[in-house]
Amino acid sequence: MQFEVIKKTPLYSALSEQGKRIYLPQGIFYWSGRGKKEAEINSTLGSAFGYENSFIEGGTSEWVPFYLEDIKAYSTLSVNEVVSYSKVSGLEDLISIWKKWLIKKSLLDIESEPSKLSKLENYITNPVVTAGLTNGIFLSCSLFLNPGEIVISPNKRWGNYDNIIENLIGAKIKSFEFFVEDQINIEGLKNAIHEVSEVQEKVILILGFPNNPTGYIPKEEELEAMIQMLRQTQRELIKPIVVLVDDAYEPYVYSTSVIKRSIFYALHDIEEDVIPIKLDGITKELLLYGGRIGFITVGLKPGWVSNEEELNTLKKELDNKLSGLIRTTISNSNHFYQALVIKLFNNLGMDGIIQKREKIRNILKNRYEKINSELRKIDNSIISVDPNAGGFFLFLNINPERISAKNFADHLLRKYKVGVIPIEKHEDNINGIRIAYCSIDINEIDEFVNRIKLALEDF
Ligand SMILES: Cc1ncc(COP(=O)(O)O)c(C=O)c1O
Repeated sequence: MQFEVIKKTPLYSALSEQGKRIYLPQGIFYWSGRGKKEAEINSTLGSAFGYENSFIEGGTSEWVPFYLEDIKAYSTLSVNEVVSYSKVSGLEDLISIWKKWLIKKSLLDIESEPSKLSKLENYITNPVVTAGLTNGIFLSCSLFLNPGEIVISPNKRWGNYDNIIENLIGAKIKSFEFFVEDQINIEGLKNAIHEVSEVQEKVILILGFPNNPTGYIPKEEELEAMIQMLRQTQRELIKPIVVLVDDAYEPYVYSTSVIKRSIFYALHDIEEDVIPIKLDGITKELLLYGGRIGFITVGLKPGWVSNEEELNTLKKELDNKLSGLIRTTISNSNHFYQALVIKLFNNLGMDGIIQKREKIRNILKNRYEKINSELRKIDNSIISVDPNAGGFFLFLNINPERISAKNFADHLLRKYKVGVIPIEKHEDNINGIRIAYCSIDINEIDEFVNRIKLALEDF
């Protein structure tokens, strides 16, 4: 593959050296593909096959992957769905289902917004399947970040970003203060972009709403202001701005006063080279934490290509690069869970899935309302709750001059038997506790908040 089209796009200048180098060599796939079609005796496959009746008593005369008979006892999925390798970038059926799912999640209406819908359908890559979102985050960061380069993220963020980006990849995170007066700090984000653009030919951001650990989701006008800032900044800097959109908690929006869909869609819609990359997956969306299936989908811009053929080549080139990263790290993703998700979509349909999940979403929404209302009742000036509207968590700030978050969490656990996650990063101006209300029953919330109140009074 020559990567002729991607080289002409701003995406290429944003790639890391590794991202520029990596590709999926076609050799083995080329020969095994041809072998399957053309050979009479095919010895190209990398997994062991035999006639089923040669190793299973009462087996068929079919040529199947060898398997241990007992695996059948645990699932109604076929042997092929459990035993075989998946394609590197994922099972074709799952990719096509997830693309349709992604389009459904855009909430675009075919009647009133047909051109936006067709733009979305045409100008995104096929999702590639990863081993959960964490793997998707690692792979997309590897695609863009050289060691020593910088990615921008809010100061309050999922802690694993730091470990992936700084300790594994050797790149750096530039934090910006997340909120000013309970709104996203657009000026802070803009300043961070300007600073990074002085030392880099590209700007990479990682953002995701609902956010972990705060549960923050922007209001429509906040998103609008952010988009306008990004458009204007990109035009001024003339450097690509890549936005890694971590949509781990995408469906869990409880407040009606915030945006109802991922920021991926609004970023995709603008013509400037603000390039969104959607990272989502079954982990929380389908409540399948251990299934380890995520997706990377790249948003493309119509101005990058001059015709349909170039567009298709660009999609193939990106797919090949991402497949190269997958093949060299995890090789391919869990077949069983991909097959299970295909069955779920085929049997329930998208609306059926949403409907079934709604019960759970409502339970979480009730907890969200209850805990926020109880916390508001605590009259203590050393704490404040960050704006939150969805997800699994909220964040309680504690005045660092009065109590260290770690000491507070320790005290809360020892004396009141309440577990929370303290986050204390003085360089990032953070001292507080993450409360995972996703994991406490609504009937315990009164008592939970009461114990926090008592613990605060002890200091
Ligand atoms: C913001 C965020 N992104 C990504 C992940 C990881 O998701 P996965 O379990 O699919 O790797 C999490 C999990 O806690 C998360 O909170």
